[in-house]
Amino acid sequence: MQHKGPWNGGLLATAGDLVFQGTATGELQAFHARDGRKLWSYAVQSGVLAAPMTYSIDGRQYVAVMVGWGGVYPLVAGELSFKSGHPVNRSRLLVFALDAHDALPAPAPTTPVDAQQAARGVRLYARDCNSCHSDAAIARGVVPDLRFSAALANDEFWCTVVDDVALSSEGMIGFKAIVGSEDIRDIRAYLIQRAQTAAARH
Ligand code: HEC
Repeated sequence: MQHKGPWNGGLLATAGDLVFQGTATGELQAFHARDGRKLWSYAVQSGVLAAPMTYSIDGRQYVAVMVGWGGVYPLVAGELSFKSGHPVNRSRLLVFALDAHDALPAPAPTTPVDAQQAARGVRLYARDCNSCHSDAAIARGVVPDLRFSAALANDEFWCTVVDDVALSSEGMIGFKAIVGSEDIRDIRAYLIQRAQTAAARH
């Protein structure tokens, strides 16, 4: 198996002659165990370091993989890692089954945002979010970088996190009392714009 660079994931070999492996460049791949042919791959949007595993429930077989990059390479390689095409870390558990149809949402919403809405969002972001999530939404690792937040992908999920107190025990208070629901959508539009700019670079 040839990969674009180092730091790829662990292996899973199944009784059905398949070998599964995630890559540093964000693919989960399946190979034929006997001749190494690549049979399948899926873009998991982040590097994979863990080995996949498999199990079955009521006769239905699943392949699960902990997506997310780690180890020393992404910590030290910086620009080299970026030039090798390694996507940013997005930690999540993905589970596959042969007859499943769900797909991952795009890493950043791809539809263009309304420029006026985003312009309103910049001001609101500066007033209410900037003090923790950093100027221009470029966080430095202490709190989540909202450009890469899974919450951006879905309007309803976004409102739940920002409006409500879902993460308040972790330091992210709900903003319902301060920011109206239109404002919260304006902030999302601004952050989608920032995410799209970042995606064009990454
Ligand atoms: C007082 C500091 C603070 C302010 C102000 C703040 N946040 Fe947060 N926010 C946090 C912290 C801390 C977390 C991480 C919570 C955790 O660990 O799960 C977070 C997490 C989030 C998340 C989840 C990110 C993810 O992918 O896990 C979203 C979305 C978010 N904030 C949006 C906002 C928005 C929008 C604003 C402005 C309206 C805002 N935050 C203002 C501290 C803050």
